[in-house]
Amino acid sequence: MKAHIVTLPGDGVGTEVTAAAVAVLEAVAEHYGHQFDCEEHAIGGCAIDACGEPLPGASLAACRKADAVLLGAVGGPKWSDPNAPVRPEQGLLALRAALGVYANLRPLRVHPALAALSPLKSERLKGVDVLFVRELTGGAYFGAKTRTADAATDECKYTVAEIERVVRRAFELARGRRRQLTSVDKANVLETSRLWRNTVQRLAADYPDVKVEHQLVDSMAMLLLTHPARYDVVVTENLFGDILTDEAAALAGSLGLLPSASLGDGHRGPSAKLRTGLYEPIHGSAPDIAGQGVANPVGAILSAALLLRHSLGLEAEALAIEAAVARVLEYGPRSRDIGGQAGTDAVRDAVLVALADHVNTSRAFFSGVRACG
Ligand code: NAD
Ligand code: IPM
Ligand code: MN
Repeated sequence: MKAHIVTLPGDGVGTEVTAAAVAVLEAVAEHYGHQFDCEEHAIGGCAIDACGEPLPGASLAACRKADAVLLGAVGGPKWSDPNAPVRPEQGLLALRAALGVYANLRPLRVHPALAALSPLKSERLKGVDVLFVRELTGGAYFGAKTRTADAATDECKYTVAEIERVVRRAFELARGRRRQLTSVDKANVLETSRLWRNTVQRLAADYPDVKVEHQLVDSMAMLLLTHPARYDVVVTENLFGDILTDEAAALAGSLGLLPSASLGDGHRGPSAKLRTGLYEPIHGSAPDIAGQGVANPVGAILSAALLLRHSLGLEAEALAIEAAVARVLEYGPRSRDIGGQAGTDAVRDAVLVALADHVNTSRAFFSGVRACG
C-alpha cells in the first residue's frame, strides 16, 4: 500500500518521540512492502518562531491532503507568557477543529510488568483495559472567551449534534469490546452536562446490547483510582476527558506511555471504516526533560500503531508494533520515567529489533502452516 503521512513533530520532546515513531513506521513499510511517504511540517511554538503563527497555512493544507497525520507535542515555557498574543496550543486546537476530528480515542492498558510503577497496589490494576472517548472539538476549549482587567469567561457550549456523534461513536466502540459504556458528566451542576446526559439516555435505546451507566466526574476521578478494572468504554466531554486521561496514565506507569487517535467522519480508501485521523501521544512537550534524549517514545510509537489501524486499515501491522512494544516494556530497555536508564533512541532500537523478530516469527509460523497444509 502507498500512503502519504504528514508529521508534525512540534516542540520539546515532540520532535524526539516523533522521530522514533517515524523510524518504526519506516520499518513497518520495509517489512510488509508498503510505501509510506512522510512529509514534515511545522506546528506550535516552532511555527510561531518561524512565521508568527502556530498553524501555518502550508501545514494545514498538507494535513488536509494526507492519509493521516502524526503529531508530537506543542508548547513550552518560551511561549507560555499568559499575555502572549498567540500560543502554540492554539495551533493544535485549530488543527483538530479544521480536520473535524471530534472523537479522541485514548486507550489505557496496564502492562503487568509495569504495575509496580503505578502508585496503586498491583492487584487493583489486574485486567485494566479502558478506552476513553474524549469529545475533542467542543466545550470550553472552543467557546467564546472574554477578558477584562478584573474578569474572564470561557463559554462552555455543546449542541445535541456534537454530543450525539461522539456518543454514537463510543456506543459503537463498546459493541466491539465488553459492551459497557460509562458516560461521565457533571449533570448535578452544569446545563451542558444535563444535555449530555439526556442525549446519552435517548441514544441508549438504539444500543440495547450495551450497558450504560452515568457517573459524575468528581467521583469518577476517585473511582478510576479505586476500581479501574471496572470500566470498559468511558465517554466524556473535552475538558473532563483531558484531565481524566492524564490521571489514567498514572495507572499505566507514565504519561509517556499513552497513545491517542482523533477521528472524524471523513472516510478514506475503499473501506467505509477507515478515517483520516490525527495521531498523537497524550503527553505534552515535557520541558523538564526536552533536549536530553530521554523521553519515552512508547506513546508516540503506539500512536503510529493506531494510525495504521484506523487510517490505513493495516491491522496486522498495528498488532506487530503493539507486540514489539509489549516485549520491550517487559524485558527492557526502559526509559527513566518507567524505572530504567535507556534513552529515547535505545528504546526505539529495541522496538525495531522486537518488530523484526515478530515479523520473522509470524512468517516462519505461516510458512510452517502452509507446508503442513
Ligand atoms: P507534559 O505532558 O509535557 O509533562 C508532564 C510530566 O510528564 C513531566 O514531568 C514530563 O517530563 C513527563 N512526561 C511527559 N511526556 C513524557 C515522555 N514521553 N517521557 C517521559 N516523561 C514524560 O505536561 P506539562 O508539563 O503540563 O505541559 C508542558 C507543555 O506541553 C505545555 O505547554 C502544554 O500546553 C503542552 N502540552 C501539549 C500537548 C500536546 O501537544 N498534545 C499535550 C499536553 C501538554
Ligand atoms: C492534550 C493537551 C491539549 C488539550 C492542549 C495542549 C491543548 O493537553 O492533547 O491532552 O488540552 O487537549
Ligand atoms: Mn492533556
